[in-house]
Amino acid sequence: MLSRTEASQILVKYGAEARWVEHCIAVAAMADYLAPLISRSYRIDTDFLWSTALLHDIGRCVTHGPVEHGVAGYNLMMELGHSEEAYVCASHILFGLRADEAADFGLPRESFVPCRTEEILVTLIDYLIEHDRPVTLTARFSSLRKRNADNEFFYSRLDRAEKAAIHFMDQISGSIGQSLEEVVLSHAIML
Ligand SMILES: [Fe+2]
Repeated sequence: MLSRTEASQILVKYGAEARWVEHCIAVAAMADYLAPLISRSYRIDTDFLWSTALLHDIGRCVTHGPVEHGVAGYNLMMELGHSEEAYVCASHILFGLRADEAADFGLPRESFVPCRTEEILVTLIDYLIEHDRPVTLTARFSSLRKRNADNEFFYSRLDRAEKAAIHFMDQISGSIGQSLEEVVLSHAIML
């Protein structure tokens, strides 16, 4: 498992000055902000949470394809020998890919679905941050639908992804005793 320093070095090496890096930093910052609150109800590895939040979009150094950047990130992290982080690159796409979907995009024929709490949180926080600003799930999915209207595969699975996001957000909100969405929205990220 990567240390925070190693994860940062990978982002700097492959992301350099790219604009998408700002999103990665914002998601990681939000993960760190939420970690103490969530740790009261869930056992989480805060370093793994932060590192995977930082690297979930590392595949954008290769492509911005809505599914393809997850595949590229998976391949890159596997090449670097970091299979746990690679899994998050693939599984954050659409809140998870079935084995047949994964295989269609060149991933191993196995399901890539966020299972560990950290994996679920990275995917959820990603959906609560539009570029580097907190947004509602409704706004984020509306934006995704607008931007991907011509991508039949991706667009047709956004309903499923949104349902998963709502399910996990409700579950976590119930456990921590407050709305996760409101907590995220009330926190201004200063980059
Ligand atoms: Fe992504």
